[in-house]
Amino acid sequence: MPAKKSPALHPDLASVLVTKAQISRRVKSLGRELKRIYGDEEITVVAIMNGAILFTADLLREIDNAVRLDCIRTTSYGNATESHGTPKLVHGLTLDVTDRHVLIVDDILDTGRTLSLIASMIRGMQPASLRVCVLLDKKGRRVVPFEADLVGFQIPDKFVVGYGLDFAERYRNLTHIGVLKTSRQKVHA
Ligand code: IMP
Ligand code: MG
Repeated sequence: MPAKKSPALHPDLASVLVTKAQISRRVKSLGRELKRIYGDEEITVVAIMNGAILFTADLLREIDNAVRLDCIRTTSYGNATESHGTPKLVHGLTLDVTDRHVLIVDDILDTGRTLSLIASMIRGMQPASLRVCVLLDKKGRRVVPFEADLVGFQIPDKFVVGYGLDFAERYRNLTHIGVLKTSRQKVHA
């Protein structure tokens, strides 16, 4: 049998930070952590679009709990790699979360602005419990104090794409997470 070739590095990436296999192993172990936390309770999952879509889809298939899924959307970076000030909610919850066990899922915790806004909004709706699970955490970048209950990977302060994370809506479908070349961090049409 011919030797298995490792996939070529995407030309817009400077390096791969988290491989497809590492993501898959960590998502499985996060599923086990969720099972330990929630037992057989029903979970109301709130995924933050668009970045958390791939992670949420994989994570939810690792747990056998009853799950209600809702998605919310905040203002995005647009075509930049830095967030500008306070995020705003552009599409809110459709499910009622009062007295429910709510798990917010996001792709990355960066300045903390987005998740602190969403968590305080949901806390105001009196859920039975509220937890936050993020795939990536750039701890050094926090502007607002905020910690997630479950974190997939701690990463350095680099702009990353893939597995749901984008730059100007591109690269979300990469199966791994990589550092975007600075030469590619320019405005796309
Ligand atoms: P925060 O409000 O600054 O914590 O930003 C959270 C949001 O910014 C995430 O949900 C991502 O959509 C986006 N973001 C932060 N860092 C990156 C990155 O390195 N790559 C892609 N998107 C990012
Ligand atoms: Mg996001």
